[in-house]
Amino acid sequence: MRILVVGGGGREHALVWRFARDGHEVAALPGNPGTATIAANLTGTPLEAARNWRPDLIVIGPEDPLVAGLADELRSAGFVVFGPGADGAKLEASKAFSKSMMAEAGVPTAAAGTFFDARSAADYARSRFAIGREVVVKASGNALGKGVVVCDTLDEAIAACQMMLVDRAYGEAGDTVVIEDRLRGPEFSLLTIVSGDEFWSLPVAQDYKRIGDGDTGPNTGGMGTYSPVAAIRREWVADAEDRVMRPVLRRLAEQGIAYRGMLFSGLMVQDGEVNCLEFNVRFGDPETQTIMRRLGSGLAESIAEAARGDGVTPVEVREHAAVTVVVASEGYPGAVEKGRPITIGSLPDEVVVFHAGTAMAPDLVTSGGRVFGVSAIGDSIAEARSRAYEGVDAIRFEGMQFRRDIAGT
Ligand code: AMP
Ligand code: GLY
Repeated sequence: MRILVVGGGGREHALVWRFARDGHEVAALPGNPGTATIAANLTGTPLEAARNWRPDLIVIGPEDPLVAGLADELRSAGFVVFGPGADGAKLEASKAFSKSMMAEAGVPTAAAGTFFDARSAADYARSRFAIGREVVVKASGNALGKGVVVCDTLDEAIAACQMMLVDRAYGEAGDTVVIEDRLRGPEFSLLTIVSGDEFWSLPVAQDYKRIGDGDTGPNTGGMGTYSPVAAIRREWVADAEDRVMRPVLRRLAEQGIAYRGMLFSGLMVQDGEVNCLEFNVRFGDPETQTIMRRLGSGLAESIAEAARGDGVTPVEVREHAAVTVVVASEGYPGAVEKGRPITIGSLPDEVVVFHAGTAMAPDLVTSGGRVFGVSAIGDSIAEARSRAYEGVDAIRFEGMQFRRDIAGT
């Protein structure tokens, strides 16, 4: 198959790697220096690139083009596209929309209200604290993973509402705010290939959201992942499929939304009950870097089938473990300086370095917050982990930072 992957981050490099490894001809748009070694990096608009390169399948990586309707545009030009249209992508673009879908579908989720002004938001937060709850304040729109404030006190909640609705710290994304009850318990995400009302979930990968060891410091896009995750019970995954995925897909269909793409649900298990925190409409990053290392062949065929609306054939999942450690620039998740020269020494077997924020200038330099996902497999998590960290040790650039406790005990 000829497969075009839209995007240029670590997630897209991992998808390109999987497809190339399974014998497909792959192009990336725009791709990155990592994809350039195994695929063609294309330029131009997605429609131009698709018309010139004529892929059998297009996979859209990031949420922004999906939200902007790229899948609709490419489908109406006759291409087979894995990724929801703008209608389905609202599940990620608007937390207010996704909460209302969850409510209509009867999906277990934290009680919540949606607000447009700071006074009613504060009144609602006060009423929740008055009955012994804590709250989480969320910018409804896309705030690059930063628009969620988990609050211990009413003062923090009021300050968060003020920051979003009055000071407009996230601009338009924070003009609508969702306040929901804070849940407690183990958290996991499920990445599910969806074709209308049929679906199949990829193996669960654990993400590490905070920048610092021991889950300290600010939230990031994700600093590392591993799979399989022993702590996540099979019955929780089954519950997530029965109580979250099935009803939401039914509700989307009732609304005339033909969802064909990845649906990523963020879940939290409180008192044995699986609750849905949020949806994303794309593959996770860096979950994908780990998951791609655990799949056998067949992913491309399965998602092409889903993209055509013909159902989903399960993909072989290998028994071995996989661990990915993200290497980031100095300053991440805040502002970073780009253009620092990178050297990569010799890598152990079974290590793949996925590029996320690199560029050629003319040699390899940093060009973003998250620079690499260093990914390894092994017979056990411990073996994969020690290989991944050996891989990290082979990388050098000024100010590099990474967590030392990914997949640790
Ligand atoms: P979200 O972008 O909605 O997934 O939120 C980001 C992170 O905030 C999640 O991964 C959780 O760790 C935390 N979070 C979100 N909603 C809640 C909630 N209702 N209760 C507790 N933590 C939450
Ligand atoms: N790693 C979390 C995400 O992709 O949103």
